[in-house]
Amino acid sequence: MQGRIWQHFLNILLLSGLAACQSFLPDLPEENELLDGPEEGLSTEEQGIFLAGDIAFNDEIFTPATGLGPIFVASSCASCHVGDGKGHPTNALTRFSQTASNEIVNRLLDKGGPQLQHRSIPGFTAEQIPPEANGVSKVVAPAVTGLGFLAAIPDQTILDLVVQQRDEGIVSGEVQWVDVPGYLKPEPWQITNSEAQYIGRFGKKSAAISILQQVVGAYKQDMGVTTDFDTEDPINFSLSANQIDPTIDPEIPASTVNGVVFYIRTLKRPLPRNQDEPSVIAGKSLFSQIQCSSCHLPVLKTGLSDISILSEQEFYPYTDMLLHDMGPELDDGHVDGNELSFEWRTPPLWGLGLAPDSQGGQFFLMHDGRATSIEEAILLHGGESESMKESFEALDRDKKNQIIEFLESL
Ligand code: HEC
Ligand code: HEC
Repeated sequence: MQGRIWQHFLNILLLSGLAACQSFLPDLPEENELLDGPEEGLSTEEQGIFLAGDIAFNDEIFTPATGLGPIFVASSCASCHVGDGKGHPTNALTRFSQTASNEIVNRLLDKGGPQLQHRSIPGFTAEQIPPEANGVSKVVAPAVTGLGFLAAIPDQTILDLVVQQRDEGIVSGEVQWVDVPGYLKPEPWQITNSEAQYIGRFGKKSAAISILQQVVGAYKQDMGVTTDFDTEDPINFSLSANQIDPTIDPEIPASTVNGVVFYIRTLKRPLPRNQDEPSVIAGKSLFSQIQCSSCHLPVLKTGLSDISILSEQEFYPYTDMLLHDMGPELDDGHVDGNELSFEWRTPPLWGLGLAPDSQGGQFFLMHDGRATSIEEAILLHGGESESMKESFEALDRDKKNQIIEFLESL
């Protein structure tokens, strides 16, 4: 838990005998440099649920005997969400689709789409991308810290932002309306449209309306693990006969899933660092001046929550939770649901400076991790953010660095 990555690192050092040499030991990170661990203020009972969720998320590695497969991508949540932080491109998820121009229907949903399960347990056949696919997308795992706050933003706040942006005319974010599976019981404050769809907020395209939906989907689509919520294994549709693994479904109970959901809801927010540095202060105001903050909204507020520490809290995620047209450079040609291939949900920027800790010592930013520095990530912005990118490009080197230092401090 606390400092898991560092503990791991220290263990490696100890094992390799290097610990004897003091100068090789890294300084222990400050509390605000760590991503894992709970928000402060959980009751003793809540801490117990957090701990159980922590173990299920970080320590449980599935095998064929415990439900892995028949087809899957990885065998534990933590293998992609290392230390609760951003993942590495080598563990990216692959999604595929086939569409005609201007069509938003993925014709490969009955051929194993949208997500590729490229591995299988012994005796089963892994999926391959069908040759007719014309959209293939790679997405790198986002950090899962602070998500409880994002989950507790009232839908009305998100809808108000759509209207506000339309009125201001600088950017024009949209919500993604999602069909929800039967097991989900939306909260009373969740708003539904005339087609009984709800507002998506998790995943790079806002395809999941809640952490529960994302977690149930991850167990099934990423690991082939069935739950009380969704009892069907993923199937390789390219085979003539459906292959189901021999493990009895559901492979894990609702209590495990709920523990993981609670863990993710109460994982602490990334805490900003070096906020008093003059360059960080200058970068923060430049960030607003050149209107980066029109999408990367500094402050949001939660509504009432059943977890008291999440109730009516101001927090600083730097996202508006809306989808934006990001231009041709970031168009991956993959279409699913209502969102288009060039639309992405504004990612929160909190914790950005800590990304390298879980990405092997360097940055892999944007949905597919192709940007290896913050500056590269900024220069990939297009579409609705084209003019902000141009304003950034027009700044002198010192001012660019101030913005970057500010982003690193988040
Ligand atoms: C193979 C890698 C992989 C595995 C294994 C995996 N994830 Fe993820 N996870 C991702 C990727 C990639 C995304 C972004 C998905 C998207 O954009 O639709 C994601 C998204 C999420 C999100 C939403 C984050 C956000 O900010 O929107 C949550 C929550 C999450 N995963 C939890 C889990 C849990 C819990 C498990 C284990 C049951 C798990 N993941 C297993 C790769 C993985
Ligand atoms: C129109 C909305 C919008 C505006 C304006 C905008 N961004 Fe973004 N930003 C996004 C979206 C959406 C992404 C994710 C794109 C992707 O994943 O391919 C992103 C990604 C990023 C990332 C990488 C985050 C990560 O976790 O990979 C950084 C850094 C960033 N933006 C900084 C900025 C800066 C600095 C500005 C101002 C020059 C800015 N953004 C303006 C929407 C916006």
